[in-house]
Amino acid sequence: MPWFSVSKEVAVGTAMLGVAFATGVLAGKKYPSIFFGASKSSKAVIGKDSLLWQYILDHSLREHPLLKKLRLLTLDHPWGRMMVSCDQAQLMANLAKLIKAKKVIEIGVFTGYNTLNMALILPDNGRVVACDINEDYVNIGKPLWKEAGVEHKIDLRIKRASETLDELLADGEAETYDFAFIDADKESYNEYYEKCLCLVRKGGIIAIDNVLWHGKVLNPRKDDLATQSIHFLNEKLLRDTRVNISMIPIGDGVTFAFKL
Ligand SMILES: C[S@@+](CC[C@H](N)C(=O)[O-])C[C@H]1O[C@@H](n2cnc3c(N)ncnc32)[C@H](O)[C@@H]1O
Ligand SMILES: *[C@@H]1O[C@H](CO)[C@@H](O)[C@H](O)[C@H]1NC(C)=O
Repeated sequence: MPWFSVSKEVAVGTAMLGVAFATGVLAGKKYPSIFFGASKSSKAVIGKDSLLWQYILDHSLREHPLLKKLRLLTLDHPWGRMMVSCDQAQLMANLAKLIKAKKVIEIGVFTGYNTLNMALILPDNGRVVACDINEDYVNIGKPLWKEAGVEHKIDLRIKRASETLDELLADGEAETYDFAFIDADKESYNEYYEKCLCLVRKGGIIAIDNVLWHGKVLNPRKDDLATQSIHFLNEKLLRDTRVNISMIPIGDGVTFAFKL
C-alpha cells in the first residue's frame, strides 16, 4: 500500500475520533458506533485483521526470536487470544527500560509472553514476580524462559495473585517495585490496583490491561461483572490524584498509571 493512502486512512481515523469525542462530550456520552466499528466487529481499537495493524508491526516490531517463538506457540493454544498484544508488550518493555526497572510484577502470566519480555530487558539482578493460578499454561512457555537464559530473573508464584501481593507487602516490599502489569481475572482489578499502588515506588508504572474490553465498556451491563469491574476502575482512575494516567488504544486498551 502506498504511503499516501495510509496517511489518508490515518487522517480519516483522526477525524472520526474528533466526531466521537465531540459527540461524547456534547451529547451526554452517546458514542457513535461508526468510530468503534460496533457493527462489523466488537473490537474497539485497530483490529488484528486490519492492514494498518500489520503496517504497525511491519514498521515497529523488534521481537526477540524467542519471544516470537513463544508467541507462535501460544497462538496454537485454544486460549491463545488471551496473550498480550506484541506491540503493547514492546511498549511496556520500552517504558520499563526508560525508568530503569529492576523489580516487576506480572499479574496473570498465561504462557509467559510478557514475563519473558520483561525478564529480557531487566538487569541480571532484576526480578519478575510472576503470578498465576494455572501451572499448565505457564509450563507451555517455561522452557523458553530457560532457553533465553533469563529463568533466574523469574520468581513464579502459583496461587491467587491477591495472596502473592499480600505476601510481598507482608515481606516489607512496599514501594520497592518499578513496574506492574495487571492482566488476570477482571473482577479483582480494583484490588490488584490498590495493592500494586502500595508495592510500586514513586515514579513507577502500573499498566492495566483490557481497559476497553472489546468495546463492552461503552455499555456495561449490570449482570456482566467483568465489564462492571473494568468500567468502575476506569472511572476511578480518571479522578485518582495519586497517579498520572494515559489510556492507550493498543491491544484491547491499556491504561498506564504513573505513581506520583
Ligand atoms: C489474559 S491471561 C494473561 C496474559 C499474559 N499477561 C501474557 O503476557 O500473555 C490471564 C491469566 O490470569 C490467570 N488468572 C486468572 N485468575 C487468576 C488469579 N486469581 N490469580 C492469578 N492469576 C489468575 C489465568 O490463569 C491466565 O493465565
Ligand atoms: C501529573 O500530576 C501532577 C500532580 O497532579 C501535575 O502537576 C502534572 O502536571 C501531571 N502531569 C501530567 C503530564 O499530566
